[in-house]
Amino acid sequence: MRIRLIADGSSKWQRMIRRWGIAFLVDDDILFDTFGDARVFRANVRRQRIDLAKVRHVVISHDDWDHIAGLWDVLGQYKGLKVYVVPHFDPALKKRIRSFGVTLVEAPAPLMVREGVFTTGELSGGTARGILYEQSLVLRDHGRLAVVTGCAHPKLVDILTAARGHFGQDVDMLMGGFHLKDMEPGEIKTTVRTLPRYGVRHVVPLHCTGALGVQEFERFFIGNCHHLREGDVLEV
Ligand SMILES: [Fe+2]
Ligand SMILES: [Fe+2]
Repeated sequence: MRIRLIADGSSKWQRMIRRWGIAFLVDDDILFDTFGDARVFRANVRRQRIDLAKVRHVVISHDDWDHIAGLWDVLGQYKGLKVYVVPHFDPALKKRIRSFGVTLVEAPAPLMVREGVFTTGELSGGTARGILYEQSLVLRDHGRLAVVTGCAHPKLVDILTAARGHFGQDVDMLMGGFHLKDMEPGEIKTTVRTLPRYGVRHVVPLHCTGALGVQEFERFFIGNCHHLREGDVLEV
């Protein structure tokens, strides 16, 4: 299976001009999140020669603005799509999605999007902004699991616990926004060092992981902390 980073927004200059969010493409047919700026999303899709007509499924991790900006273009242009959100997704946004005539799937529990691609179901996490609800993507190929997170508001450990509990196996690779940017250095260290207990051998920190978090991943996952830039494709 291939996963492409369409847009990330985590580099210093991107943050400076408020270019923020994340978006992935799994093989040709699954979009996972749609960045926080529709113009940037569109431009990256064009530049990377992505054919969105092949997309069948759009999975949205959670309803924060930096994950949904490119969605409306996609829904307006392509028919027959299935959109996957969590039950606690903003009701007004759900209504707006349905207005495009697409199938809206609200997944409280893990479900299969298509062969080898699953959601974790809705997980929740307490944050400074209150409780946030989110789902992650799980890819299973050659018997190995990769977990892809949007922001990881429910916390990495809880996401990994849920994935391992449901699939009954370790998670080999963890990729995405890890939301360590607001954590104390001690907590970041503990989180990073706990991950091998879940089987994690490869990490790809992106988006809201934060500079300190990325540093800690590099230090602890020597040689197995991978850096993806926009347009990069990873075989999982
Ligand atoms: Fe978020
Ligand atoms: Fe985010």
